[in-house]
Amino acid sequence: QRKLRVAVLGGGSVGSQVASLLIAHGDELAARAGAVLEVVGVVVRNLDAPRDGDIPRELLTTDASALILQADIVVELIGGLEPARTLILEALNSGADVITANKALLATHGPELFEAAEQVGAQLHYEAAVGGAIPIIRPLRDSLAGDRVSRILGIVNGTTNYILDRMDVEGDTLENALAEATRLGYAEADPTADIEGFDAAQKAAILASLAFHTTVPLEAVHREGMTSVTLEQVVSARKAGYAVKLLAICERITDAATGVEGVTARVHPALVPLSHPLASVHGANNAVFVEAEAAGSLMFYGAGAGGIQTASAVLGDIVSAARRHVAGGPGVAESTQANLPVLPMSSVTTKY
Ligand code: HSE
Repeated sequence: QRKLRVAVLGGGSVGSQVASLLIAHGDELAARAGAVLEVVGVVVRNLDAPRDGDIPRELLTTDASALILQADIVVELIGGLEPARTLILEALNSGADVITANKALLATHGPELFEAAEQVGAQLHYEAAVGGAIPIIRPLRDSLAGDRVSRILGIVNGTTNYILDRMDVEGDTLENALAEATRLGYAEADPTADIEGFDAAQKAAILASLAFHTTVPLEAVHREGMTSVTLEQVVSARKAGYAVKLLAICERITDAATGVEGVTARVHPALVPLSHPLASVHGANNAVFVEAEAAGSLMFYGAGAGGIQTASAVLGDIVSAARRHVAGGPGVAESTQANLPVLPMSSVTTKY
């Protein structure tokens, strides 16, 4: 069977889980991808740091450039702008497909990276960059490619949703809830990125660019964080029939003064009526509510942060990239694994 070499850059909570799951589920993923996915190495800053998952020590390395040269698929999970940008360009120029969860980099240098990929006929996959485990990039890029998206309302930062939810449900303080979100691995290395809305703004730029088939630069996203939201405000909002949520709002609009059609993207705390599905998004979950002209309203919901949850989206991208390699072009391969039996109704014990 064909073998594809996968390099994982970054041994943090997502990187460790991606490498561990690739190794643990090797046979199953090989059947789906049409190729054995061999982890050739995991780039870490510190070889001795404790990490999640189960990665053989001999796979750990500190030399990213050397590892990239050995790989067919490079998974960038370092985060931040540099060295991630340079390493992704190195990987694309070496002919590898690249998978990244790096929202900061995509929101800042997306056009440069997509152009570099196009020039060498490689692909850049980024399902994990927005919404953690939730499939939202492919639906916007592919499933809704024939429709016109008019608006997106997104809860796209798990940390702030967790904090606002704890304030609402348990009367907790922002400081306590943030400490817990950090302990659970939801928050960014610098949690200012979460609570001041920078992380959500990056995701809004990515979603708006995709949904409206344009480039929405990060600087064009209006941003307000949630640090000024008080417990009293959250309690009064609930009494009045609202939940306070940090929303990313991307809209197709027409300027009333000039009649010019365009798009906007913004992040700010908002009062969401309790009857709206977004009001029921609790904990570190995310949800993206999409309004499209033909499709109507759709909601994509699930775990928006967390190592293993985000690893799920990265692994999906790895399988897509592998199928493309196997097909020798844009991959269309379906799952080849057909060994699970269909059970009779008498086996069903599901309770709803
Ligand atoms: N810090 C981010 C969040 C991680 O809380 O949503 C996922 O992008």
